[in-house]
Amino acid sequence: MAESDEGSNESDESDESSKMREKLLRSERDNRYLRKDSDQRKVLEEVFDRSTLLAVEALIARKDLRELYGVVNSGKEARVYYGLDGEGIPVAVKIYLISASDFRKRMGYIAGDRRFGKLPSGSRDTIYLWTRKEFKNLQLADYAGVRVPKPHAFLKNILVMEYIGAPPQPAPTFAESEVDDEDYEWSFKTIRALWKKAKMVHADLSEFNVFKTAKGPVLFDMGSAVLSSHPQAEDYLRRDVANMVRFFRKRGITGKDSDEWLGEILK
Ligand SMILES: Nc1ncnc2c1ncn2[C@@H]1O[C@H](COP(=O)(O)OP(=O)(O)O)[C@@H](O)[C@H]1O
Ligand SMILES: [Mg+2]
Repeated sequence: MAESDEGSNESDESDESSKMREKLLRSERDNRYLRKDSDQRKVLEEVFDRSTLLAVEALIARKDLRELYGVVNSGKEARVYYGLDGEGIPVAVKIYLISASDFRKRMGYIAGDRRFGKLPSGSRDTIYLWTRKEFKNLQLADYAGVRVPKPHAFLKNILVMEYIGAPPQPAPTFAESEVDDEDYEWSFKTIRALWKKAKMVHADLSEFNVFKTAKGPVLFDMGSAVLSSHPQAEDYLRRDVANMVRFFRKRGITGKDSDEWLGEILK
């Protein structure tokens, strides 16, 4: 049966829910990151559909979340917010858009991963599974000792995790930073650690998905990551390695070529 919240009007919305919506609307309106050309309400409705709002409320009730502030990043398929958890500690809240997402593209990164059984048939369920997958991937990487944002909680299309940076400012990515030999060494060491210890490949690795912090780099955006038993795992690994080799070469840092690194990681 289709979910009953689809297309329902707002008249039966709870007080709490409408208060939350108003608050989010205000925070979005004040937000300088919001695209100027967009129809604000429409964009909001895309993110905060009724079930997303209810999920935000449930996270608040569970004390996984206390506050949700402005948008840190507004991508095509997800938005990342700065918030506070139940204890007032900064968290990043990644909300996957249900309507805008091209869920078919994600299928290949779910099918073939033995952690997930039957494939969902609709975009909503696919996004929920994707959110859970990103949470699990972060957990696995964290357990293996790879530095990623620590996952705190997830519900439906919402993922709550450690905030990397000095809120409301996220840490700069490699793409936005100077990088050095240490970052270069770290990158391939980390790809190897993910493969060997977490038995996982990031599968969307690039300079845009690594933060550079004073305490060293932090890998993030792990929704695509699959286990090394996935039939395409080695192809994804090859692509990740090639992306990083290309990025560092562009910045004047060279060493082994992609094939040599791949051999090094697989051995
Ligand atoms: N844990 C985090 N802490 C702080 N900022 C974050 C965090 N996760 C994501 N962001 C911000 O959101 C941006 C996009 O996040 P990402 O997970 O890469 O989403 P997308 O799937 O849209 O690429 C990052 O470049 C960063 O600015
Ligand atoms: Mg990203």
